[in-house]
Amino acid sequence: MDLMEAICARHSVRAYTDRPVARDAADALRREIEICNREGGLHIQLVTDEPAAFSGMMAHYGKFSGVRNYIALVGKKSAELDEKLGYYGERLALLAQTLGLNTCWVAMSYSKGKARVEVAPGEKLRIVLALGYGETQGVPHKSKNLSEVCRVEGTMPDWFRSGMEAALLAPTAMNQQKFRFTLLPDGVRAESTGGFYSKVDLGIVKYHFELGAGCENFQWK
Ligand SMILES: Cc1cc2nc3c(=O)[nH]c(=O)nc-3n(C[C@H](O)[C@H](O)[C@H](O)COP(=O)(O)O)c2cc1C
Repeated sequence: MDLMEAICARHSVRAYTDRPVARDAADALRREIEICNREGGLHIQLVTDEPAAFSGMMAHYGKFSGVRNYIALVGKKSAELDEKLGYYGERLALLAQTLGLNTCWVAMSYSKGKARVEVAPGEKLRIVLALGYGETQGVPHKSKNLSEVCRVEGTMPDWFRSGMEAALLAPTAMNQQKFRFTLLPDGVRAESTGGFYSKVDLGIVKYHFELGAGCENFQWK
């Protein structure tokens, strides 16, 4: 499965089997986490075989079960942190999908205090990605129309349409899809239009757009 296939196959999964993460898959994720941390100046960590963070009431009400692994998205507090964690976190979620794993972004439905995570002074654990082999593969989310989330004058280039289709398949908090992409004469502008965890969402959808559109076809404005 390549990353474009992963975009189509990925859906949030909240119920997991007790199968441990295969060693090769964990190694591949750790290698990619190292690259993301270096590139983004982040402190993302893979946590395996740790059921406590998803054992409390929050996880129960959030309908999570069997979560024993997660990727903790940690970084230095800054105005850019949320967007960066969205971008690199989705890079890891899609890699996980290609490795036969399932994921779900989780902001609220877990016990943050119980997470087995290293958070250095000045850093913040912002969000986690639940990880494992799903009981199911999840279901596609309802989606806005293309015209609601982009602005283009004249004919829409094929690469831009592919980027938008990939962006609409991305996970967003409460499936809010509060973003807008604008085709400019010299590039593409992506903005959040507000909402809960909207900067994390923006990073996620920008990563999807890059994969769908091809980075060689445009630059961010
Ligand atoms: C930033 C962010 C935070 C999220 N937080 C939660 C959460 O706390 N609990 C939960 O059950 N799902 C959470 N989700 C998952 C979304 O509900 C899900 O991605 C959305 O409904 C779209 O569905 P899909 O991921 O299957 O495409 C979150 C997603 C994102 C992107």
